Amino acid sequence: MKKRIVFATGNAGKMREIRMIMDDLGIPVLSMKEAGIQMDILENGKSFAQNAEIKARAVHSMCHDIVIADDSGLEIDFLNGEPGIYSARYMGEDTSYHIKNASLIERLDGVPDEKRTARFVCAIAAVLPDGRVLHSRGTIEGIIGYEERGENGFGYDPIFYLPEYGCTTAQLDPVTKNELSHRGKALRAMKEQLITVLQGVEE
Ligand code: IMP
Repeated sequence: MKKRIVFATGNAGKMREIRMIMDDLGIPVLSMKEAGIQMDILENGKSFAQNAEIKARAVHSMCHDIVIADDSGLEIDFLNGEPGIYSARYMGEDTSYHIKNASLIERLDGVPDEKRTARFVCAIAAVLPDGRVLHSRGTIEGIIGYEERGENGFGYDPIFYLPEYGCTTAQLDPVTKNELSHRGKALRAMKEQLITVLQGVEE
């Protein structure tokens, strides 16, 4: 089996995160750009896992390395799981998160703490050189705050409050966020699966 991982993203922050976590596998981790792959992928799955697999398969068709892709988003229970798989597209891709966050706070107007429960979800799919597909998933539970707080992170972080830490995920330092986050958990779970697969190949 070829020993290269291509991560199907154009997002530099995600690349840093995956490199940090996959580092001790001892396999080079390349971005799509570094692997010389450029493509627009239609994410038309019905779940985070399907979208991750669609992305990984699309890139795998161009390179046959180990290809990893993720799909993530915010599920708010009071809004029946919205924005969910549409988190990036909620109110339009080009709408600022300040406006998206204000809209979600507004839609929860008058809703008490115990009904403001939400989670970030991350699904990861890996397509192996022989076509096998692996899946992992990570979540982090929180509640939707009443105002934006914090400057770190991105997206919905300023309104995602962690009661046990007394702050939003936008107030966590990046290392702590990676330890706790949906993406960190899903990436570490995927790493464990890859270690097993790679050991099987080497034996
Ligand atoms: P994608 O996984 O790149 O398709 O994007 C998922 C979208 O979900 C992002 O654009 C954010 O809006 C949101 N999201 C996913 N993870 C996080 C996070 O850790 N903090 C804040 N927002 C997130």
